[in-house]
Amino acid sequence: MHTVRIFLLAAVLSGGSADSSRKLSVLVGTDVTVSCLFDALNQLVEWSALTVEWNMVDKHAQKNMVYTFEDGKAHVSRDNSVVDRNGLLRSNASLLLRNVTVADEGLYTCRVITPVVHIESTSLEVLARPSVLLPEKAAVIEGEEKTILCDITGFYPEKLAVTWYIQNESHIVQAGSSPLSHVCTEMAVNNPDSTFNIRSSITLHSSAVKSGGIKIICQVDHSTYISPYSKSVTLTLQGKFT
Ligand SMILES: *[C@@H]1O[C@H](CO)[C@@H](O)[C@H](O)[C@H]1NC(C)=O
Ligand SMILES: *[C@@H]1O[C@H](CO)[C@@H](O)[C@H](O)[C@H]1NC(C)=O
Ligand SMILES: *[C@@H]1O[C@H](CO)[C@@H](O)[C@H](O)[C@H]1NC(C)=O
Repeated sequence: MHTVRIFLLAAVLSGGSADSSRKLSVLVGTDVTVSCLFDALNQLVEWSALTVEWNMVDKHAQKNMVYTFEDGKAHVSRDNSVVDRNGLLRSNASLLLRNVTVADEGLYTCRVITPVVHIESTSLEVLARPSVLLPEKAAVIEGEEKTILCDITGFYPEKLAVTWYIQNESHIVQAGSSPLSHVCTEMAVNNPDSTFNIRSSITLHSSAVKSGGIKIICQVDHSTYISPYSKSVTLTLQGKFT
């Protein structure tokens, strides 16, 4: 009896500490497998002796059941999640999550009782790459101002930076607030699917534009990019009466 208890405790401790640092990153809309490999005492696990529980603690510290297997029956709480039944016979209780959404982000823990207890945790980070919309061309009327919008949608996590650059034939400079140009980046807004949108705009006076036109660059920095992503618009000068 004494040895069994020590063994159980050791299994819990090693499972908990060794795996709590494991991390997985996945893009929204794709599939991911969260690993859970247990040691079966017997070569063939008996269905009746096997209990599997997958739960997830989300970013609001709320615990959600994902999947349970008990008395030979599986109960799936999250749609599109699968634990392969044949895998269970081979000591593999890995969880396949199909079509991941932002709501799937959290700490996943599998608890397998064979009756030896096995616990394994993986933190799942979900990422959504932004869509960046900027017109290709724009014109400013002489003596007037023009506002150009860079529309950034559907990204996660919220942290994102927008930088505007103005490029002429010889130079490229970051656009800030000056008498000739003004940058305005709004607060991020939340979409129903928990992704975010941001609108950023630059307003330029025609005197900032030379006759040959200038290039305005909207640069976006987000954790889904290896290097910053940018799009550019050519801004030309349009005579007042043409
Ligand atoms: C465990 O099962 C998953 C799918 O259910 C599979 O992707 C993975 O390769 C398996 N791992 C091992 C070690 O067999
Ligand atoms: C994936 O999930 C999204 C959002 O929940 C849904 O609109 C889409 O139809 C799903 N795609 C598939 C292939 O299930
Ligand atoms: C290009 O921009 C730089 C910096 O704003 C400025 O000093 C330079 O005169 C501009 N060159 C032309 C050809 O407009």
